[in-house]
Amino acid sequence: MKLRLIFLGACAGVTFAATELSAADATPANGIVSSAPIYVPDFSHSGDPIPDGVLEWSSLMQTTNAAADQESVRFTFSFKNAAKRADIALVTNLVTAADSTIQTNVTTITNFTPVSVAIGSVHASCGCTQPELPPLPWVIPPGGQGEFAATVNLEGRSGMMIKSITVSTDKGYKDLYMRITVLEPVIPTRTDAERAQDMEIAKADRQAVFKGDCVNCHVKPGAGKYGPSLYNAVCGICHDVANRASMVPDLHNLKTPTNEEFWRTWTAHGKPGSLMPAFSTSDGGSLTDMQIATLAAYLSQTIPSQPVPAVTNPPAK
Ligand code: HEC
Ligand code: HEC
Repeated sequence: MKLRLIFLGACAGVTFAATELSAADATPANGIVSSAPIYVPDFSHSGDPIPDGVLEWSSLMQTTNAAADQESVRFTFSFKNAAKRADIALVTNLVTAADSTIQTNVTTITNFTPVSVAIGSVHASCGCTQPELPPLPWVIPPGGQGEFAATVNLEGRSGMMIKSITVSTDKGYKDLYMRITVLEPVIPTRTDAERAQDMEIAKADRQAVFKGDCVNCHVKPGAGKYGPSLYNAVCGICHDVANRASMVPDLHNLKTPTNEEFWRTWTAHGKPGSLMPAFSTSDGGSLTDMQIATLAAYLSQTIPSQPVPAVTNPPAK
């Protein structure tokens, strides 16, 4: 004689609290029975690290380079829901031995059932990172796949940086990393002959930089930019290059006091009779009042308003 008693439901291993309501519980008023079960996530474990193998990520750390004038960089994270619930069944066999005594053999059977995972929140390590997600909680069905993007704003950034986003689910949380290296600006080069010619053209018309081929290097790089990236695109090309002409001053070491109005006026109107163009659109330049305002704000914040004192040698004895 063989008796089998099965006790299902003792859970072990990767166990998750969640309720899968059956379709019968979710019968809508119109009587149509939906086949998809309604998943009711329990976020009480969202503060614990997610166990391995629950969500399979395409990558936990993504690395990219960005051009110096790039406004932002967008990353895509994709994942697969591999979560399983382990149900352990205790199987008790009652076996009649030769001597007619009844012996009890207990064994276990483990069943793995794929389960849903719910993403409850996603937080970025800084305000510069904007995750793009569907409405939360976002329930990924058993075995399902998902993908979301995160955009890191690079305005005013340089060098290497690491940003992270924390994805909190009902099975725990995971940190995902993005490593971005902002490359050094690529400064277009001009041959000596081209330069001499440009200079002649600019001497005759300081607004020439806004015309003809000159726009490729002097105007287009600034399109749609503001603040520091606008400065690098349209001002740095003349003021911050090592081999700039001697009449182009170093704006970081001016000999006169400066303020926001100083920067605004010089940018908007330049100086007639010099090579400094007038950038305001009302003067025939390429920048809107808004762009000029962000430049003036940026320059007055980053460049000292008082002249940098000249280094004087102590008097000789
Ligand atoms: C291929 C890109 C490019 C084009 C096109 C270009 N420039 Fe330039 N320009 C530069 C760079 C780079 C500098 C910085 C100095 C250098 O490296 O030669 C510069 C500097 C200048 C200067 C400052 C003086 C100096 O040489 O340092 C003036 C004035 C000027 N350009 C006028 C013009 C005019 C006018 C035109 C069109 C006829 C023009 N540029 C076309 C890239 C360009
Ligand atoms: C085509 C080259 C060129 C470009 C582009 C350029 N500048 Fe200039 N800038 C000059 C030259 C040349 C002078 C010197 C004018 C003079 O003779 O006093 C100058 C002078 C200045 C001064 C006066 C500094 C002083 O001596 O007090 C300021 C401020 C200035 N530029 C700001 C800017 C800003 C901001 C931008 C970008 C929006 C810019 N410049 C773009 C060539 C340029």
